Amino acid sequence: VSGPNIRKVTVLGAGLMGHGIAQVCAQTAGYDVTLLDVKQEFVDRGMSMIRDSLAKFVAKGGLEKGKADEILSRIHPTLDLRAAVEKSQLVIEAATEDPKLKLDLYRKVSEHLPPDAILASNTSSISITLLGSATKNPENVVGMHFFNPPQLMPLIEVIRGAKTSDATVEAVRVAAKQMGKETVLCKKDSPGFIVNRILLPALTEAALLVSEGVATPEDIDKAVTLGLSWPMGPLKLLDYVGLDTALGISEVFMQEFQDSKYRPSPLIRQMVRAGLLGRKSGKGFYEWGSPSSTKSSSGK
Ligand code: CAA
Repeated sequence: VSGPNIRKVTVLGAGLMGHGIAQVCAQTAGYDVTLLDVKQEFVDRGMSMIRDSLAKFVAKGGLEKGKADEILSRIHPTLDLRAAVEKSQLVIEAATEDPKLKLDLYRKVSEHLPPDAILASNTSSISITLLGSATKNPENVVGMHFFNPPQLMPLIEVIRGAKTSDATVEAVRVAAKQMGKETVLCKKDSPGFIVNRILLPALTEAALLVSEGVATPEDIDKAVTLGLSWPMGPLKLLDYVGLDTALGISEVFMQEFQDSKYRPSPLIRQMVRAGLLGRKSGKGFYEWGSPSSTKSSSGK
């Protein structure tokens, strides 16, 4: 594959998505990766999730132990944004799905990013054009939306913002290929892109079925796994991606489309208020056990 010579990549956010993206960059693409978060405990947890995932590949026989150690040695945890960003050819942002937090982060990153480096966002629903507007080089800002778990899911949605250049789009398609992923191109920066535009209304309906007492969570998930062949039912999937993340996406839809058909489920909102976020907090629609290994307070 031709394209820019990407060697050093920084991933911003060591949470549920960020740790997996960093791993894919080191494991499949062979990049030298810096994994950044705002607190030492968050980067530590991210590195520990990467170790767990690599151990799963080794246990399955898909990866030699020595190779796993080598991959791990290519991932450098840090809290120092400037040092990480100024040497990178590609920065992938996987921070919490909060527009204000992301805009502040983009301003900061833009101060230190080399002018020809690419800044890709793993946002699920925030406008790439808006994120680009907080930087000095919006032509280098693009969406690169991974799916959970990034280590296993084969797709990346590439999203073109209003000012994204053709060269940037091409460069991230090449990088995605180096990461072993298929891509689809969203030609317009539209909320939720392709997959979440379809998925979120389905997840909201599943939560409404629970709150209306139509069926139990177990039966709703059984219906969708057996009736539609989804690998996970919608309520388990809500727990898996995080109810807070799903609520955040619904809120962006409501605001951007101004259409009540995207109204978030009151049950999901209530559960988020109660800290029942799913896998990351140990409990959502289901019990997930200790939150310690998968919780992510700082990143998606
Ligand atoms: N790293 C390495 N290996 C992993 C892993 C990880 N993080 N997670 C799971 N695995 C491995 C397991 O070790 C297991 O291996 P074996 O089959 O050899 O035993 C295999 O994957 C299957 O895992 P499980 O048995 O634990 O569970 P499963 O069969 O249900 O598979 C799954 C897990 C791949 C996640 C599958 O359930 C699935 O595809 N679920 C749907 C995921 C999905 O829809 N993701 C998109 C969410 S939407 C999104 O991300 C967008 C957004 O913006 C919200």
